Amino acid sequence: MIIPYGRQSIDDTDISAVVSALKSDLLTQGPKVAEFEKSFAEYVQAKYAVAVSNGTAALHLCALALGVNTTTRVITTPITFVASANCILYCGGSIELCDINAGTGLMDIIKLEEMLASKPVGYYKGIVAVDFAGYPIDLEKMKALAEKYLCWIIEDACHSPGAYFTDSVGNKQLCGNGVFADLAVFSFHPVKHIATGEGGMITTNDENLYKKLLSLRTHGITRDPEMMTTSEGGWYYQMLELGYNYRIPDMLCALGITQLSKAAAGIKRRLAIAERYDEAFGGNEHITQLTPNGTNDLLKQGTLHAHHLYVIKVADRKGLYNHLRSNGVYAQIHYIPIHTMPFYRNSGFTDIVMPEAEAYYTGCISLPMFPALTDDEQEYVISKVVEFVENGHR
Ligand SMILES: Cc1ncc(COP(=O)(O)O)c(C=O)c1O
Repeated sequence: MIIPYGRQSIDDTDISAVVSALKSDLLTQGPKVAEFEKSFAEYVQAKYAVAVSNGTAALHLCALALGVNTTTRVITTPITFVASANCILYCGGSIELCDINAGTGLMDIIKLEEMLASKPVGYYKGIVAVDFAGYPIDLEKMKALAEKYLCWIIEDACHSPGAYFTDSVGNKQLCGNGVFADLAVFSFHPVKHIATGEGGMITTNDENLYKKLLSLRTHGITRDPEMMTTSEGGWYYQMLELGYNYRIPDMLCALGITQLSKAAAGIKRRLAIAERYDEAFGGNEHITQLTPNGTNDLLKQGTLHAHHLYVIKVADRKGLYNHLRSNGVYAQIHYIPIHTMPFYRNSGFTDIVMPEAEAYYTGCISLPMFPALTDDEQEYVISKVVEFVENGHR
């Protein structure tokens, strides 16, 4: 038996949706793309959504649409997937890291303010804010800073579709709803809440950014007579700017639509799994939960943690990883801090120290968390974790 840390749930409705799309005339940009975009925008309560080939392409397009260039300095967190930072480098910009808050794993907003305040207004142009593990970062506070220091915000919501926090006036703010961030990105990689194999989405409330994204997604080409300088006939199109082919095929959007219809139920199951882990590990002196009682306490405070990941910290993380693996439990580590990657070390991050991120990394391990995880499988995982920490292998 192998229990992975995350996996997709594909049922017959997903399969028949893909089969129908395969039997249709349009395999790439067919009707399912717009339908998926519309449903997704409604799900996260944003005005616009642009479906793309993956989450990394989504981030790249956001950086391009916001005009990142060789003079642009952007701040992100060291505890994220490398794509959150790489997207800025793709456009020639530079990345600086802001350490995390050990209690949440999210970028520390107090440290962010210190960083922004240490330079003239306008020195930093943007922030890539990550809802790490599914925990929505407080974008209301971040937006106040972004306005003061003239920064845009890209919300990397790859871990958090369906999650929300409650703002200072009591409104539920869904991740990716575009109220505080300029743009938000999602990934449909198989371990994520909504799985299409490869796939991504950008959401925004800004019509100009939306139009720019549509153009950049497909080579900067238009067929719109109002946008072209001339037309030579029905076949005619013009390339107006340098774009990419970041389109997602119709059949994957067909899958995205059926997956999306089950996303809320998936979150409910994830919350039940998280609650059971909370209960099993709460009070165990050898285990630190990244967000202790993160499920119930956060909900009471008006925050829904989408639990893409369930992270605990232990003293002998490598020992626990190996113990679980030898018992068929394929836990994972999220994440190796970005600045410790050889590429970043060799690109100016030589002496960068991020004490909280590094301390977090030495102990963190993500346990199996996906809707199809059975109660028996979860009890087995719990027993293997407890067995290890209780046997003195700490
Ligand atoms: C936080 C975060 N950002 C970006 C990405 C990139 O998404 P994709 O794998 O779809 O390119 C991922 C996916 O692994 C992620 O977890």
